[in-house]
Amino acid sequence: MRLLFLGPPGAGKGTQAKVICDKFKIPQISTGDMLRAAKAAGKLPAELVEKMGKGGLVPDDVVIGLIADRTQADDAKGGFLLDGFPRTVPQAEALGAMLAGRQQKLDCALVLEVPREMLVERAVLRRTDKRTGQIYHLKYKPPPPDADLEHRADDHEEIVKNRLDAYDKVTSELMPYYDKLQILKRVNGQGPVEEVTQRVLQALETKK
Ligand code: AP5
Repeated sequence: MRLLFLGPPGAGKGTQAKVICDKFKIPQISTGDMLRAAKAAGKLPAELVEKMGKGGLVPDDVVIGLIADRTQADDAKGGFLLDGFPRTVPQAEALGAMLAGRQQKLDCALVLEVPREMLVERAVLRRTDKRTGQIYHLKYKPPPPDADLEHRADDHEEIVKNRLDAYDKVTSELMPYYDKLQILKRVNGQGPVEEVTQRVLQALETKK
């Protein structure tokens, strides 16, 4: 199964991706995580660190290169879940061409829908355990006392709003794009995490 998760910052893509990937035994491939890992290793050019820090998108060729390599790794041969890629029409076109060249195709582009007013709170109060990668929320999923918490540099209110604007202006163009390809599924991302998971699973099982 080859899937991608669309949805604005804070919609729950990472949270749901972990559950779905565990269930279907496929890797979660997150361009955001890959870029943050490159930054932590001091391997992300300063101009890209600055762009991400302000909530803007990094150039298409950078993330397309990351995905071209990562989707060919051994663990991705049987399928994968793309979390946060593509985010622009050129990225989507590059992905389509990449998969066609390998005689592969996408099974589903699933968008998690959450109203904008909930997204800022979800992102600003998110904390991640540095050791396990587990995602917590100070209000909805409090971390255990021994967690080694990290507050993402782009999870501050003004920056989250910039990220939401980038989504509305650019990434939302992917909804008509994948709708035309007849693989778009929309899922309500509001409510408890477990309920959203049930909706995601139901959507994945339903034929278009
Ligand atoms: P990226 O890391 O992809 O961030 P994002 O898309 O903005 O998404 P988030 O990680 O913020 O949110 P999420 O939907 O995964 O939510 P989560 O599950 O954590 O990208 C970061 C940056 O990298 C971009 O701004 C850009 O600069 C760059 N970048 C990345 N990919 C790129 C690309 N393809 N092209 C160009 N640039 C790129 O949940 C959020 C919070 O809500 C958590 O605290 C969670 O516990 C909580 N929560 C989740 N579900 C629920 C629920 N049902 N109820 C209550 N709380 C919930």
